[in-house]
Amino acid sequence: MAEAPENIRIQYRNPQGEDGRAVLEGMNEHHSELWDWGISRMPKGFDGTVMDVGCGGGGFLKRLSERYPYASFIGVDISGKALEVTSEVNRDLLDDGSLELIGASVDDLPLADGSVDLATAVETYFFWPDLPRALRDLERVLSPGGMLVVLSEMQLRDDNAEEMAIASGLYGTRLVTDGEMLSLLSDAGFEASCESVPEKGWVVYRAVKGI
Ligand SMILES: C[S@@+](CC[C@H](N)C(=O)[O-])C[C@H]1O[C@@H](n2cnc3c(N)ncnc32)[C@H](O)[C@@H]1O
Repeated sequence: MAEAPENIRIQYRNPQGEDGRAVLEGMNEHHSELWDWGISRMPKGFDGTVMDVGCGGGGFLKRLSERYPYASFIGVDISGKALEVTSEVNRDLLDDGSLELIGASVDDLPLADGSVDLATAVETYFFWPDLPRALRDLERVLSPGGMLVVLSEMQLRDDNAEEMAIASGLYGTRLVTDGEMLSLLSDAGFEASCESVPEKGWVVYRAVKGI
């Protein structure tokens, strides 16, 4: 039987129970190509503190740990089920003390100012209850010169607005255009740029905090 639309909405926004686990494990597979592209747009060598917000099933944190073997990691998600799956997928990082998992919302991060050097957010910004406030809190926890990378496969453009409106109705996403995101990032104190692969709907925003 097909999943009810309301259940899809809840499971992508805040995965719960066994349905939530299935969605998280599914995302660890079908976001793989997007992650590869996103990581190819990120700094090469890095050994500071890397935080992935809305870390879902933890597959992207695993990729980050392979790219940055000398970094330490923080995974943040509002969903306890997401943190459970992330801990299973990244058991080695937890065991060697290089991964901390935090149950929190991105707009109220229980972290000290300037304590993170690179923050990533994949396929999640459109679920955040207050995007401007979340971007300001991410700016607060980043160190001077630190970078925020926001990655999405739902780029909103003039030529796909109708299709995105249907997808947003199904998944409960609140999409913004590239211009709106760049303006919000600038308001939050970042210098930001974006790059996209329109035929796939992929977009990455790279935002650097001033020194
Ligand atoms: C579509 S999933 C993406 C998961 C993962 N980043 C990936 O690439 O597979 C969205 C995730 O964002 C999390 N999320 C939604 N709202 C959040 C918020 N306000 N703060 C932190 N995480 C949030 C959800 O619980 C879910 O795990």
